[in-house]
Amino acid sequence: MIRPYCPADLESLKEITALCFAKVSIDANIEAQFGAIGGRDWRWRKLRHIDQDVEGERAQGVFVWEETGQVLGYITTRTDAESRIGWIPNLAVLPEHQSRGLGRKLMDHALDYLRQQGMEAAKIETLAQNAVGSQFYPSTGFREVARQIHYLMRL
Ligand SMILES: CC(C)(COP(=O)(O)OP(=O)(O)OC[C@H]1O[C@@H](n2cnc3c(N)ncnc32)[C@H](O)[C@@H]1OP(=O)(O)O)[C@@H](O)C(=O)NCCC(=O)NCCS
Repeated sequence: MIRPYCPADLESLKEITALCFAKVSIDANIEAQFGAIGGRDWRWRKLRHIDQDVEGERAQGVFVWEETGQVLGYITTRTDAESRIGWIPNLAVLPEHQSRGLGRKLMDHALDYLRQQGMEAAKIETLAQNAVGSQFYPSTGFREVARQIHYLMRL
């Protein structure tokens, strides 16, 4: 059910992202408080991150959950051969398929991939408002190391 990403999946990844991150993304928080900026909405900014996640060789570390020909979720990774700390920038599962264990299986797969790539640690970030993230990651073995506050002002 888990397979490597291929370029034909990009639109599915973006659709899943736009559906999943409305309540759990810095970009959506910005829009809720400030409205559109630069004539762009939060989706445009968030979806740009997905383009970056699948750019060039990074695509090798992107995995999708496919069922009956449909992509239901995905996870993206980055490796850093010098620091040996891998990163999981994005993870999402379509709302109607959440809480079935897909997210955990994608996570386990990504962590195995990072190990195979020689990473000695894995890093992930979540927003305090994300109730799932703050349960899921500690239960996977991640330990909190820092909290950060994001500010914005109009110029
Ligand atoms: C985070 C996400 C990918 C998890 O996917 P999922 O397929 O629903 O996850 P799973 O069913 O494998 O559950 C994994 C763990 O998440 C936690 N979890 C799942 N649903 C939860 C809920 N409704 N409330 C609190 N915790 C929940 C549990 O710890 C669960 O582990 P357990 O079932 O072994 O106890 C999914 O909720 C999602 O797409 N959310 C929106 C986007 C997002 O927040 N992405 C991560 C950004 S940091």
